[in-house]
Amino acid sequence: MKPEIWRFQNANSLYYGLVDCIGTETTRIKDSGRDPVVTLPTGNTMIPFYKIAAEQEEKLKIQNWICFGLDEYFPIDPTLIRYSFKHYLEEKFLSRLTTPPKATHFFDYHSENFLIECEHYETKIKEAGGLDLAILGIGTNGHIAFNEPGSEFFSRTRAVSLHPQTLMANFKGKAPFTHALTMGIGTILEAKKIIVVALGKNKAQCVKSSLKEIQTRTLPASALQSHPNVTWFIDQEAASFI
Ligand code: GLP
Repeated sequence: MKPEIWRFQNANSLYYGLVDCIGTETTRIKDSGRDPVVTLPTGNTMIPFYKIAAEQEEKLKIQNWICFGLDEYFPIDPTLIRYSFKHYLEEKFLSRLTTPPKATHFFDYHSENFLIECEHYETKIKEAGGLDLAILGIGTNGHIAFNEPGSEFFSRTRAVSLHPQTLMANFKGKAPFTHALTMGIGTILEAKKIIVVALGKNKAQCVKSSLKEIQTRTLPASALQSHPNVTWFIDQEAASFI
C-alpha cells in the first residue's frame, strides 16, 4: 500500500500544510455528523505546529475533537509533572485555544495499576468510536509513539521500557524516567488515517528505512507500510535519502 508523501521546502510551510490537511479531514468528519477522534503526539517537531494550529482552531474544528494523548512517561513523580506529555499538550496547545476540544484523554501517570490503566485507555478509544486520525512523530530509531524497536506490529496499549537512544534524544543528559505507557502499534494501525511528521537531517535515515525497506519489528514505523491511508509530511532534509 503506497503512502502519500508530501515534501516541503521548510518546516514552516510543512506546518501550514499540515493544518490544511488535518482541517480538511476533521471538517469532513464533522460534516458527516461525527466528532473527530484524534490522537496527538509530543516531541520537539510538533511544538511550532501546536501554536499555529491553535491560531487556526476554527478551521481545524478543534471544538469538536475528542483528543487522546499517544503516550506518557510512567510513573511520574509529582515533582516531575512538568515533563509529562499531558503537561506538554496543555501548555503548548490546549491552553492556547479559545474553545477547548469536546473531550481530552490522557494516560493517568499516577495510576497504581498500569495494566488496568492501559485496558481502560483502549476501552475509551473504542467507546469514542475508534481513532479517525493518528498524528505521529517518529524517533531516530524508528519508534512511533513509544513503540520502541522490537515492538510487535499487533501490540496494544501497554507499558514499555524506553530505549537509551530515545531517552538521550528526549533528555540530552540523565533521564528521570525509564518506562512509559503507549498506544500499541496495533492500536495505531486501527486509525482510519495516519499522518507522520518528520523534520531534519537526523530523521532522513529512519524515514527512508520506514518507507523503502522491508517491514521489520526492529523499525516500528515500517509497520505503517501495511496501512491503507498514511500521509508523510516531511521537509527536504528528512526526505534527503528517498
Ligand atoms: C518522542 C515521543 C513520540 C515523538 C518522537 C519524536 O519520544 N514519544 O511521540 O513523536 O519521540 O520526537 P521529536 O519530535 O522530538 O524528534
